[in-house]
Amino acid sequence: MGFKKGLSTLLFAVPVVFGLVPPQKRATCPDGVNSAANAECCSLFQVRDDLLNNLFENQCGDEAHAALRLVFHDAIGFDPKAGGGGADGSIAIFNATELTFPANAGIDDVLDVVGPFLQKWEHVISPGDFIQLAGVLSLVNCPGAPKVKFAIGRPQPKAASPPDLVPNPFDSVPTILSRFGSVGFSPEEVVALLASHSAAGADDVDPSIPGTPFDSTPAVFDTQFFVDVQMRGTIFTGTGGNQGEVESSIQGTLRLQSDHELARDSATSCIWQSFVNNQAKVQSEFGAALFKLSLLGQNSASLIDCSDVIPQPLPFTGSVTIPPGFTHSDVEQACATSPFPNLPIQPGPPLVVPPIPQA
Ligand code: HEM
Ligand SMILES: *[C@@H]1O[C@H](CO)[C@@H](O)[C@H](O)[C@H]1NC(C)=O
Repeated sequence: MGFKKGLSTLLFAVPVVFGLVPPQKRATCPDGVNSAANAECCSLFQVRDDLLNNLFENQCGDEAHAALRLVFHDAIGFDPKAGGGGADGSIAIFNATELTFPANAGIDDVLDVVGPFLQKWEHVISPGDFIQLAGVLSLVNCPGAPKVKFAIGRPQPKAASPPDLVPNPFDSVPTILSRFGSVGFSPEEVVALLASHSAAGADDVDPSIPGTPFDSTPAVFDTQFFVDVQMRGTIFTGTGGNQGEVESSIQGTLRLQSDHELARDSATSCIWQSFVNNQAKVQSEFGAALFKLSLLGQNSASLIDCSDVIPQPLPFTGSVTIPPGFTHSDVEQACATSPFPNLPIQPGPPLVVPPIPQA
C-alpha cells in the first residue's frame, strides 16, 4: 500500500522510475504496437483491425448485425440430449446442412458477408473462435454496447448441429424459454440476450421489405427496443400476415411475434420492462449472457482469455423516449407488479424509420 502511494508521487516527478518496476506479465506483441496478457492473443490484432475496418467499415450497420446474429445461430446448435458442438463454427463449415434449417433463414446472406473473412484468417483462428470474435467486435461501433469478454481455443467443428435447436419467431414463450433453459439460460438471461434486437432488423420475415429494423434506432445498442416493442401494435410496414410477424407501432419497423410475446407474457414482462431506460443493466446482463452463449458446448477451462483484443465500444449519449406521435397511453404495459418508467415524449412528427442499407 505504502509502496503504491510512494510510487505515484515519484511518478509525477520522475517518470523514468517506471522502468524500475518489475515487468508485468503483459507481453508486448511482435508487432511492437499491441500488448496482451497472453502472447497467444497477439496474432489476433491484425484480424481485429481487418474486421473493424474492412468488414464492418467502422459502422453498426448490416454487416455488424449479421455477425452478431451468427453468434447466436452457431452457439444455440447444442443440446444435452440431441448433441451438437454449440459455439464451434459448424454453421459456417457445415453450412450445407445447417442452412437447410428453417430458423436459419437469411444466414446464407450472413455467411456470404462474414464467410470470406473467416476463410481469410483460418490459418490464425478457428471457425468457432472467429464467429465469437466477429460478434464481439460487431458491437464496437454500436453506441451503448458493452465490451464483451472474448476467449480463444475452440477446436475445429466435427459435425453439423442437429436440427430444430434454433428458436423460431413464431415459437411460444414456453417453447422459447424451455429451449434456452435446456442449455442453462434463465428467463432473465433470455430477455437480456434479446437486447441484440436493438441493433438488428429482418430481411426474410417479410421478404418484400429487406433490412427492416426491429426498433427506431438500429445503429445504436440502446433500450429503445424494449420501449418500441411495448407500444400497441397497429401497423405493418410491409405486406403483413407473414409467419413470425405481428403488428408494429412505428412506421418502417417490423415486430417479431416472439419479441412481442416475451414483452407481454407474465413469465417475462417484468424482466422486459426492467431493461427500459436502464443502460447499465442491459450492458452488464447482455454482456455476461453473450459470453455465456459463446461457451455453449465448449470446455471453458481450456480457453484463453483474449479480451485485450477488444476495444471499448462507443458510449450511448442519446435518450430513451416515448416515440414522437405517441403518448403514454400507447404503451401496452404488461408487468403486473411495477409501473412502466415515466419516459419523456419525444416531440415532432411520427417517425418513418428508414431501412438498414444492405451489405
Ligand atoms: C427467441 C430467440 C430469438 C428469435 C426467435 C430470433 C429471431 C430472429 C429473426 C426472425 C430475425 C430476422 C432474420 C431475417 O429475417 O433476416 C432475427 C434477426 C436478428 N437476431 Fe434474433 N432471434 C432470437 C434471439 C437472438 C439472439 C439471442 C441474438 C444475439 C445474441 C439475436 C441476434 C439477432 C440479430 C443481430 C439480428 C439482425 C440480423 C440482421 O440485421 O442482419 N437474436 N432474429
Ligand atoms: C460452406 O461450406 C463449404 C465447406 O466448408 C465452404 O467451402 C463454403 O465456402 C461455405 N459457404 C459459405 C457461404 O460460407
